[in-house]
Amino acid sequence: MIITIDGAVGTGKSSVAKALARDLGFIYVDTGAMYRCITYAILKHHIDINDSAALTEFLKNFQYSVKIKLGERFYFVENEDVTLKIRSAEITNAVSKISALPAVRENLVALQRRAAVGVNGIFEGRDMGTVVFPDAQLKIFLTGSPEVRAARRFKELREKFPEDTENLTVEEVLKDINARDDSDSTRAISPLKQASDCCVVDTSNLTIDDVVLKILEFKDTIRARQATSH
Ligand code: C5P
Repeated sequence: MIITIDGAVGTGKSSVAKALARDLGFIYVDTGAMYRCITYAILKHHIDINDSAALTEFLKNFQYSVKIKLGERFYFVENEDVTLKIRSAEITNAVSKISALPAVRENLVALQRRAAVGVNGIFEGRDMGTVVFPDAQLKIFLTGSPEVRAARRFKELREKFPEDTENLTVEEVLKDINARDDSDSTRAISPLKQASDCCVVDTSNLTIDDVVLKILEFKDTIRARQATSH
């Protein structure tokens, strides 16, 4: 079974996907981290994204891997641990532009579909239910008020990068997430949007456990429906 979870920045996608995967014993794939890893590698190698030959050559050789240690995910690009680096402001500011490139998406969508073969998995991102897994059995779309999402993201950034974010304000974070959501929602290919057959959950006033419970209810409803339709 494939469950997709899409949504804007700060809606709780990763935390929900992680908790749900643990409860169900499913694998969990954070596709945003994949776009962040590719962005990291493009910046590191100074790839000119307007030079299609150079980009194609780079994508052919791009190597990325994930290791799981005590339930935590560690991301590697060419054997370098980039787990924290891919969450930095430099990568966050560049990722939407890189993820709008058709060649980049083609490359990562192929990896995502390959990761889904023969497994029970939860795939979290922006276009999981619309483009990558249009036939997924359960599609979730998370929403939330911009203010609550900005507050969550602010807390996360303060915890991860205490020194770099000493002067950061919630207002700045709100501006940044609005800009990224706008760019992700208006790009030409695979924009962030709800699949016509998705279940929408507004997470503004819910805990992670509340959201997980709601998704489990949706899953049970689908199973019950399938059982009675045969
Ligand atoms: O989920 P996260 O905020 O880490 O994603 C980083 C960026 O990667 C998003 O802002 C978006 O530009 C891109 N992304 C995407 N498609 C996905 C997942 C992420 O374009 N499926």
